[in-house]
Amino acid sequence: MTILVTGGAGYIGSHLVRTLRSLERDVVVLDTLELGHEAALLGAELVVGDIRDRELVVELCRSRGITSVVHFAAYKNVGESMLEPAKYWRNNVAGTVELVEAMLAAGVRHLVFSSSCSVNGTPAVVPVDEDAPLSPESVYAETKAMVEKILRWYDVTRELRSVSLRYFNAAGASEDAVIGEDWSQSLNLIPLVMKATLGKRPPVQVFGDDYPTPDGTCIRDYIHVDDLADAHVRALDHLAEGGGTVSLNVGTGIGSSVLDVIRATERVSGRAVPYEVVGRRAGDPVSTYADPARIEAVLGWRATKGLDEIVASAWRWHSTHLDGYHS
Ligand code: WQD
Repeated sequence: MTILVTGGAGYIGSHLVRTLRSLERDVVVLDTLELGHEAALLGAELVVGDIRDRELVVELCRSRGITSVVHFAAYKNVGESMLEPAKYWRNNVAGTVELVEAMLAAGVRHLVFSSSCSVNGTPAVVPVDEDAPLSPESVYAETKAMVEKILRWYDVTRELRSVSLRYFNAAGASEDAVIGEDWSQSLNLIPLVMKATLGKRPPVQVFGDDYPTPDGTCIRDYIHVDDLADAHVRALDHLAEGGGTVSLNVGTGIGSSVLDVIRATERVSGRAVPYEVVGRRAGDPVSTYADPARIEAVLGWRATKGLDEIVASAWRWHSTHLDGYHS
């Protein structure tokens, strides 16, 4: 009954690994450490290797009695995916096929997959439910949509059962500030706001304040990384109990604007957040947030933490780890 977590040394993966260990579940991490950090594993078992190394994965599944796989390992930089698409097709799509083939060769039939709300592109209606059309607007998002489709065919042809979790905007850090988001790599809003507030980066550039939203800035659904981790545990249990293949949105159902994030950071940190309003960023949806009804119905999951708790945990982590895991 051991769970294999690919990409488990990354941001969301490491939070899941810690949660699983706190529940006394057996875990093995497979990670190349190209982008992950061994320190984030807090001593969990690590095999350094690639999901495309079929021999390694088959041997690992067999020797460790793997019963299910949580698959985080992927590239996730949207901009890079448009410049180097082959890197994304190879790792995110072909790599997942290799992983699944190795799992099946070893008799492992349960997979939880890291998908993304970006499979829906700019949603025509919010909140976004799982029946919204797949309409990816980047190579990265397309890799996630493709894998979801591929997994549906593996369900039909090979009885591989999977849960694709479509993350909204993952953010925050562990409550005790022991693990969090790597300082050097992320260009997402919340880490950028933290860095600017700590004087480690120039002022935050707010990408447009003339959108048709209450304060003119874009709206997103920020979801605490430990709430996300909990959704994975429930997805694993769903599969173990014989549940079927499904795609689920993982969000709070509440939209927050860029200025909401800045104001929350000011409340939490007691500091002014340096920012300037600049032009809109190409391709930004005005507003996207999840309809979490289906995940609540299927997994009994709902978010427990709101924006202030997300920002407070991010602040505790970033202000005590000025150089991320190199601090
Ligand atoms: C958030 C908001 C920006 C930076 C990402 C991934 C996507 C999916 C969800 C994983 C937006 C604004 C940002 C800045 C700003 N995740 N912003 N100034 O674009 O919602 O999507 O998370 O699969 O694939 O790309 O996240 O953090 O870049 O932006 O004003 O310097 O903050 O316009 O409204 P995004 P983000």
